[in-house]
Amino acid sequence: MINNKIAEKTYWIGKVDDRKVPFHRLILEKGTTYNSYLLDTEKPTIIDTVDIMYGGEFVKNLQSIIDLNKIHYVVINHVEPDHAGALPSLLNKAKNATIVTTGKGREFLNGMFKLKNRNYLIIKDGDSLDIGGKTLKFFETPYLHTEETMITYCVEDKILYPCDIFSTHIANYELFNDLAKEDITEDFITYYKLIMGPHRSYVRDMINKIRALDIEIIAPSHGFILRDDAQKYINIYDKLSRINPNSKNKKALILFSSMTGNTGKVANSLSQGLTNLGIKSDVFNVKNSDLNVIKQTALESDIIFIGSSTKYGDMIGNLEDVLKELIKLDLSNKLGAAFGSFGWSGEAVEIINDYIKQSSMTLVDTSYLVKYTGANDIQLPLKISYYDEETTSDLCINTAMAVGELVINK
Ligand code: FEO
Repeated sequence: MINNKIAEKTYWIGKVDDRKVPFHRLILEKGTTYNSYLLDTEKPTIIDTVDIMYGGEFVKNLQSIIDLNKIHYVVINHVEPDHAGALPSLLNKAKNATIVTTGKGREFLNGMFKLKNRNYLIIKDGDSLDIGGKTLKFFETPYLHTEETMITYCVEDKILYPCDIFSTHIANYELFNDLAKEDITEDFITYYKLIMGPHRSYVRDMINKIRALDIEIIAPSHGFILRDDAQKYINIYDKLSRINPNSKNKKALILFSSMTGNTGKVANSLSQGLTNLGIKSDVFNVKNSDLNVIKQTALESDIIFIGSSTKYGDMIGNLEDVLKELIKLDLSNKLGAAFGSFGWSGEAVEIINDYIKQSSMTLVDTSYLVKYTGANDIQLPLKISYYDEETTSDLCINTAMAVGELVINK
């Protein structure tokens, strides 16, 4: 363990995976690492574990350096199985450990690993924890890259443990970026674009949260520990998450037909999401809009959202007449997505989805987003039950931003 020391009483206890690793429908040609850390304080604490495949090996290695009954806390920053996967094996031996995670984290862990009888310490943004000689602070970082995620900061060591954030997929035994055999910057940026890029606004929130921290080392959960010029890597995230100048050349058409006004509100929230990215959008209620203007705008747009409320199991108003005209156009190289608010059923959204499939547009749905961005928290086609200002607006904004990122990053 002595070679794996990253600070006083703090050790890397992870796993190097130097296979070509299948990951989010890609193959990680350079492999990866699953970084886990032991803070061997008066209340020994583990931060994240390793991939579920290596749970047995992880526990066996750990047993050789510490009595697992002494483990006081296991911090789970992110529940995906490449980091929380070894938790059941670990807890099987670490009988006295309390799991430290967010409320959503507990929900997910209970669902995946049936750990509801274990002790939990549920974290809220900004909470601190004394682990006997070191102090941990926690910050919620939802959607970086899944809903439950948080990051951990050790005050005394000035080390940030951000799990997936600031990671790089490179299998390595050198551990620290200053010992890397080659410049890792391009791999670091590629990782950002693949995993974090679709969640741009949440990256901005995260950067604002860590701005006040004195960070000397970033100890992520994949790839190198960034102890040489940690600020450089924060600056890269800062720069990449600002609105991309490329977005100014992108346009969107949002076309809708609304019975009570709720689908119109969804349309406006989608427009807000695109505006957040710097993408201009034209919002047309088909009832009041000229068909030729709609067609011309469609031809000039990169994204076309089409929505309707549902009445008698179908679209309403003259939207279908407009769709029949739109699908005759050459809309190749454009992305299309369906949406709609509904009261008791939402068939209209599915019918619009079918029209988009028939057109020359590329249909963006949940499956497409998962495959091409890794974003697994967006449901498309977007079906909204009524419209609640407090909860629905953010959902629509995030959906539009996920689609908008696809054209910005083209
Ligand atoms: Fe590295 Fe989201 O898991």
